[in-house]
Amino acid sequence: FYRPQMPKGLKRPPGPWGYPLIGNVLELGKNPHLTMTQMSQKHGDVMQIQIGTRPVLVLSGLDTIKQALVKQGEEFMGRPDLNSFRYIGDGQSLTFSTDSGEVWRARRKLAQNALKTFSVSPSPNSSSTCLLEEHVSKEADYLVMKFQQLMEEEKSFDPYRYVVVSVANVICAMCFGKRYSHDDQELLSMVNLNNEFGNVAASGNPADFIPMLQYLPSRTMKIFKDLNKRFSEFVQKIVRDHYCSFDKDNIRDITDSLIGHCQDKKMDENAKIQLSDQKIVNLVNDLFGAGFDTVTTALSWCLMYLVTYPEIQRKIHEELDHNIGRERKPRLSDRFRLPYTEAFILEMFRHSSFLPFTIPHCTTKDTVLNGFYIPKDLCVFINQWQVNHDEKLWKDPSTFNPERFLGAERTEINKAESEKVLTFGLGKRRCIGESIGRWEVFLFLTTLVQQLEFSVCDGGKVDITPQYGLTMKHKRCERFQIKPRFQMKNLE
Ligand code: HEM
Repeated sequence: FYRPQMPKGLKRPPGPWGYPLIGNVLELGKNPHLTMTQMSQKHGDVMQIQIGTRPVLVLSGLDTIKQALVKQGEEFMGRPDLNSFRYIGDGQSLTFSTDSGEVWRARRKLAQNALKTFSVSPSPNSSSTCLLEEHVSKEADYLVMKFQQLMEEEKSFDPYRYVVVSVANVICAMCFGKRYSHDDQELLSMVNLNNEFGNVAASGNPADFIPMLQYLPSRTMKIFKDLNKRFSEFVQKIVRDHYCSFDKDNIRDITDSLIGHCQDKKMDENAKIQLSDQKIVNLVNDLFGAGFDTVTTALSWCLMYLVTYPEIQRKIHEELDHNIGRERKPRLSDRFRLPYTEAFILEMFRHSSFLPFTIPHCTTKDTVLNGFYIPKDLCVFINQWQVNHDEKLWKDPSTFNPERFLGAERTEINKAESEKVLTFGLGKRRCIGESIGRWEVFLFLTTLVQQLEFSVCDGGKVDITPQYGLTMKHKRCERFQIKPRFQMKNLE
C-alpha cells in the first residue's frame, strides 16, 4: 500500500478500505461515477481510493474542484501515465500524453489559434457570419433532408448513425477542408462506434491500474489499439496529401496552417520552444478526435430528451416559431433570443453528465488541498457527475427541468446557475473546443427542431440510462420518427 512521507501536521485524504492488489476495484462496479459519488458522501470532497495497485485522488464538490483546478491549477494540471493512453495519437497526444510542460503549452496554444482561425473567421463564399456557421448550417440542412428521406423509405431510423457523420464533417471541414458521404465506409468504420474508444479510455478502467491485466489477451484492448492505429493512418494520409499540394499563400484549413507553422518555425531560430514537425502536425489528430465524439454524443442526448419529454419539445418549437419564424434559418447570433432552448441544452449537459469525469489529471508536485497532503504524480479523478447532481447545488437534481436555468423574467439565462454545470473541465486543462462545441450543439439542434418534430414509433419509450465510458452513451434507438413541421421552402 502507498504510504508517502507525510509532512508534520498534515493528514492523508480519507477513503474506503481496499483489498491488497485490487484495492477498491470490485466496489466501483459498472457505474464508477455513481459509486464514487456515494463514497464521497461518506469520505468527503477530497478522497483517496485505490484502483488495483494505484492510489487515486477523487475530487468532488464544485468549490474543491475549483480550488484544485483553478487556484492551484499548476499543481493539478498533469496527466497520469496510463497504459491505454500510450496508444492514442502514437503516444504524442496533446490531450492524453503525460506532457504538461513547455512543449504541451506551446502545442495547446497552436491548436487553440488554428481552431479559432478556422471557426470564427468570416465565411468568404456564403451568407453565414463565420466558417463554423457555414459548415454546421450545411450539414444540419443535409440531416433534415436525410431524416425525411429515411422516414419515407424506412418509416423509422437510428439518428446517431447520421448525426455522427454530419458532426464529423464539420470538424473535417475545419481540419481537412473536405466532407464525406454518409455512406463512406472508411469514415463510418471510425466514427460510427459503440464506444469502443470510450470504454477503454474511461476513468478507472481496471486494465490501466492492475499491471498484470496488460499481459492477458483482451479483445477490448485489441479493438482499441486497432481503432487508434486506423485513426492515425487515416489522418496521416490526409496530411501527406496536404504536404503535396501545400501553398503558403493559400492556407485552406487547420492542417495547412499547421504545416505552415512547421515552415515558419524553421526560420525563427530564436524561438523559445522548438517543436518537432510531427508534434505540430499531429495536433489535427487531437482536434479531429475530440471534435466529433463529444458533439455527436451531446446532440444524440438532446434528441433522446426531446422524445422523452414531448412537452419540452413543444416549448422549444414555440420559442423557435415566435423568435425565428419559418422564413429563415437559425443563426449562431440567435442564441440570446432563444433562452428556453439554451436552458434545454444546459440541462442536457447537467442531467446526462455524459462526461462523468474529465480526462484523468495528475499532480505535478507535492501539494496540500483542503488541509490534506497530496504527493506529486498522484492520479486525480474529477467527478463532474457529482457536481451536476449535488443536492447542495441543485433542487431535485434527478429531474430533467430546463426552467431551472431561466432567470426571474424567463427571458434570459441565469448566468450564476449556468456556471455551476461542469462539462468542459476547468483551469489549465479546460477544453479548448468549448465555444465551438456549444455553438455546434445549438445550431444543429435549432436547425433540426425548427423544421422537424421528433418522436419514437408507437408512442414507445426510450431508455435514457447512461452507459459508463469516457463519454457516456445511451442505448442506440432505431425507432425514431420525424414529422416535417411545415412545407419547406429554400430557407434563407
Ligand atoms: C479536453 C469536454 C468539444 C478539444 C476536454 C475535457 C473535457 C472536454 C471534459 C477534459 C478536461 C480536463 O481534462 O480537465 C468537451 C465537451 C465537448 C467538447 C463536453 C462538446 C460538447 C471539443 C471540441 C474540440 C475539443 C469540438 C476541438 C475541436 C479538446 C482538447 C482537449 C479537450 C484538444 C484537451 C485539452 C488538454 O488536455 O490540454 N474536452 N469537449 N473539445 N477538448 Fe473538449
